[in-house]
Amino acid sequence: MAEVLSPRIIAIANQKGGVGKTTTAINLATAIAATHKTVLVIDLDPQGNASTGLGIDRSMREVNSYHVLIGEAPLASAVQGTGIPGLSLVPSGMDLSGADVELVDMDRREWRLADALKSVSGYDYVLIDCPPSLTLLTVNALVAAHAVMVPLQCEFFALEGVTHLVSTIERVRQSLNPGLELQGIVLTMFDTRNNLSDMVAADVRGFFGDKVYKTVIPRNVRISEAPSHGKPVLLYDVKSSGAEAYIHLASEVLKRERDLRAEKGAA
Ligand SMILES: Nc1ncnc2c1ncn2[C@@H]1O[C@H](COP(=O)(O)OP(=O)(O)O)[C@@H](O)[C@H]1O
Ligand SMILES: [Mg+2]
Repeated sequence: MAEVLSPRIIAIANQKGGVGKTTTAINLATAIAATHKTVLVIDLDPQGNASTGLGIDRSMREVNSYHVLIGEAPLASAVQGTGIPGLSLVPSGMDLSGADVELVDMDRREWRLADALKSVSGYDYVLIDCPPSLTLLTVNALVAAHAVMVPLQCEFFALEGVTHLVSTIERVRQSLNPGLELQGIVLTMFDTRNNLSDMVAADVRGFFGDKVYKTVIPRNVRISEAPSHGKPVLLYDVKSSGAEAYIHLASEVLKRERDLRAEKGAA
């Protein structure tokens, strides 16, 4: 029986900025694509860091996620290749910074991205890089997604604000997208020389249990250098601790996804 390839859609969200959402979107996508799966990254942040980090500079973003959200362009027309086999991108655009306001008066304002994604096939995974807010852009991502992955930075206030995110997820689940799952929590910028990182990690594991991935992303300068070369760290320096961590994370994510599917298949 031929299987229609409808993608598994994962939103990468946390309303805090600088916690590693974009870094995780880019590098997880690259590591998954390296396993011969097809991945589409949707850059939903007006800052466009995922687009830059994947080598798509501003001049190449004429048709972007803004046009898709307001219904000016079908999603397929905004997709670009990245030069990385199996990895495509819907870039963001500057106009996206006004989209939250524009969307308020539109029909199906929370479903704009979900509707646009309905016609999309041919990918194994769609990863949505969310902006650092819980406004309509992120709500659109949470409504379009099957699951949400939350990067948490290993710092003192890591869990602060997470309750807000968890209640937003709960609200979306109750009113807009009942199937939305918490895909997992990934600890980022872990500093091995710092006891605080261990304490934060223990705290987060105490709170979220098995939802927290075993793989922890270390603080690694190669990760922060890579975007200025328009490359994921996996291509910039595959031997770095950061690249290795994202490769491990991808295999954990794919295993979790396989297990979930097996569970659902059995149910
Ligand atoms: N593991 C890491 N080690 C070192 N720098 C990192 C790491 N993860 C992210 N960064 C850097 O931290 C900054 C914020 O990360 P980013 O992924 O853009 O966060 P967000 O998308 O949540 O705002 C970026 O400059 C990025 O390069
Ligand atoms: Mg970002």
